[in-house]
Amino acid sequence: MRYRKLGRTGLKVSELCLGTMTFGWSVEETESHAIMDMALERGINFFDTADVYSRWDPRSYAGKTEEIMGRWFAADPARRHNVVLATKVRGQMGEGPNDQGLSRRHIMDAVDASLRRLQTDYIDLYQTHSPDDETPIDETLRALDDLVHSGKVRYIGCSNHKAWHLMEALWTSDTLKLARYDSLQPHYNLLTRAEFERELQPVCLKYGIGVMVYSPLAGGLLTGKFRRGQAIPEGTRVAERGRDDKRLNEHLWTLMDTMEELASDRGATIPQLAVAWVTDAPAITTSIIGATSVRQLEDTLGAVGMELTAADRARLNELTAW
Ligand SMILES: NC(=O)c1ccc[n+]([C@@H]2O[C@H](COP(=O)([O-])OP(=O)(O)OC[C@H]3O[C@@H](n4cnc5c(N)ncnc54)[C@H](OP(=O)(O)O)[C@@H]3O)[C@@H](O)[C@H]2O)c1
Repeated sequence: MRYRKLGRTGLKVSELCLGTMTFGWSVEETESHAIMDMALERGINFFDTADVYSRWDPRSYAGKTEEIMGRWFAADPARRHNVVLATKVRGQMGEGPNDQGLSRRHIMDAVDASLRRLQTDYIDLYQTHSPDDETPIDETLRALDDLVHSGKVRYIGCSNHKAWHLMEALWTSDTLKLARYDSLQPHYNLLTRAEFERELQPVCLKYGIGVMVYSPLAGGLLTGKFRRGQAIPEGTRVAERGRDDKRLNEHLWTLMDTMEELASDRGATIPQLAVAWVTDAPAITTSIIGATSVRQLEDTLGAVGMELTAADRARLNELTAW
């Protein structure tokens, strides 16, 4: 496993980060714990979650994923020390008007609730899940700055921000001498490039922001399981989302054909190639990978240390250009 500095900070995180969004609905607790065991054993020291996981599924509720992780930490206290733990605030946690958002009131409530569920007394990286246009950015950053000073939180970051949101936040932190966002968590993969590359990538490079990419496999689309003329495998997230997913089209089939050829030339798999493409793209610190089984994680871990040739990267870039 390679470790990289998260942006300009001194914090070292693994080039793959374990995403936990599936824990508690597509993956039950025992398998979730087995996935975390394997990740840690194989050198992944960076785990990403969110307080709101997994409110959207009838098998789950907001906070369940953090609870599953909390029980895993509690079973062996050394685990907490060895993990750089990232969670998020912003999502709907209850029915009241202040049970969501990035107000001082909600942030202060939410951090204590996350700490309780995670059975820890500090969060390494506390991220705003998406911007909150109803709250002034200085209110949010002052609350986060207080959490850093209190020791409940060690670094702060943001997710799903546009370049202007990020610049506004950096400017506010600088002007008011508050803790600044040192990481960004954007959506980025071979099927979704422009959103990150157009403006966020240069901002992150220029200002030393660590980039932790979510959905490097496009939620499973970039695994080779979905092919031209073949039935969509049951039990996958893509099948649950619906067969009318607009990304199931000729562009994907052509990309899969090319990726299969490139992967087999080097004895790799399509998911490994997809993750390696993201992990070594300019400005990227780490790819947050999701897994619904230990077997999937084992496969994706093959991307560690894999470097694409310039010719392979150019071919994939050309095929997916925006
Ligand atoms: N900040 C945000 O708004 C945001 C949004 C989304 C995600 N995230 C974070 O990013 C993490 C990863 O997101 P993601 O789950 O969308 O990532 P992903 O890596 O793009 O997709 C993971 C899914 O792909 C399939 N898969 C994974 N490895 C495979 C393999 N080797 N072979 C075949 N299929 C495989 C599995 O789904 P099936 O088995 O169902 O096919 C798995 O759940 C989340 O857990 C979360 O921490 C953040």
